[in-house]
Amino acid sequence: MSHFNTFKQYLPWIQKPLLIIAPMSGIAKSKLATAVTTAGGLGQIGFLDDPQDLTDELELTKKALANIESQTLPIGLGVIVFGTPMKPWLDLFAKYKPAVAWLSFASADELKEWSEGIRRASPQTRIWIQLGSVSAAVEVAQACRPDALVLQGIDAGGHGHEDGASIVSLIPEVTDTLSELGFDIPLIAAGGIVDGRGCAAALSLGASAVVMGTRFLAAEETAIPAIYRSAIFEASDGGQVTARSRVFDEIWGPNFWPKTYDGRCLKNQVYQQYTSGVDIRKIRSWLSNAMNGPDAERLSVQDMGSIWAGTGVGMVKRQEKAADIVQEVRGDTIRYLERALKYL
Ligand SMILES: Cc1cc2nc3c(=O)[nH]c(=O)nc-3n(C[C@H](O)[C@H](O)[C@H](O)COP(=O)(O)O)c2cc1C
Repeated sequence: MSHFNTFKQYLPWIQKPLLIIAPMSGIAKSKLATAVTTAGGLGQIGFLDDPQDLTDELELTKKALANIESQTLPIGLGVIVFGTPMKPWLDLFAKYKPAVAWLSFASADELKEWSEGIRRASPQTRIWIQLGSVSAAVEVAQACRPDALVLQGIDAGGHGHEDGASIVSLIPEVTDTLSELGFDIPLIAAGGIVDGRGCAAALSLGASAVVMGTRFLAAEETAIPAIYRSAIFEASDGGQVTARSRVFDEIWGPNFWPKTYDGRCLKNQVYQQYTSGVDIRKIRSWLSNAMNGPDAERLSVQDMGSIWAGTGVGMVKRQEKAADIVQEVRGDTIRYLERALKYL
């Protein structure tokens, strides 16, 4: 059953189907969040390390969205939970009261502590938790009583469960398992969705809303350099040109991410060398020499850092306004679902 009406109760400005921008750390900031919420979706601000930077972004957003009728700040705020001290964040939740707290990347125990802390600091903020397996969904449902679960399939760009499934099997299995246990938690799909076809498919699988990250890398309001965006537009055949690996977090030093997680990026020379068996310390010194040497210009942008992107990257081809993306995907989703009905 769709939970659109449940969302509508606390996100009164949204339009059907609910489209959500992924809270991409350092990339989804006030401009993008404002554009997506104004277009009838859920804008989000991604994790920022520095509480002052985050405060600035929240202030900008509050001013920009002052005209939207809502008892909360009409956006979501993303927290990468592992290793993050809770107190400064709780102060921000208490002060700005975002509509949604999007929690990700932590154990059920840590997520429980954060959910309880946020609920105390800002009772109107709803707790959404992103995860990528049936077992994690069950643990988190039992421990945190989340207001929604974001089910992240392995096509997703950015970090996610190293062992995973695509949303095609993940969403139905989580739906069945939670229902057998007596839970009725709204499910949101993430991973590989870049247009109305993907969105229509996710809704058919049982999701009540859809998240897009990679598609929004094309948005002009996204805080990324032009060369990052060009690398996205040049990529095609997403399953070939991207890969999941933990090496993308080891390029500059030891990987501090918990073992459960890897990430999907555009493949680069570091990845190629690593999968051919070259020791990571050798790769690091090669890269540092290459970047500072005469051949530096032969390195592509993805060789010099991790360009996080999902398998849908091959369909992301041009810069657009975030509002146009929201409107296009929303309209196309309805058209594809209507068309599918005609096949019957
Ligand atoms: C560039 C990029 C940065 C991301 N950063 C975060 C993050 O900070 N926190 C988080 O929970 N998820 C993050 N994600 C994952 C998204 O929440 C989401 O699962 C993913 O974008 C969905 O797949 P898609 O990229 O195919 O749309 C990121 C994804 C991308 C592409």
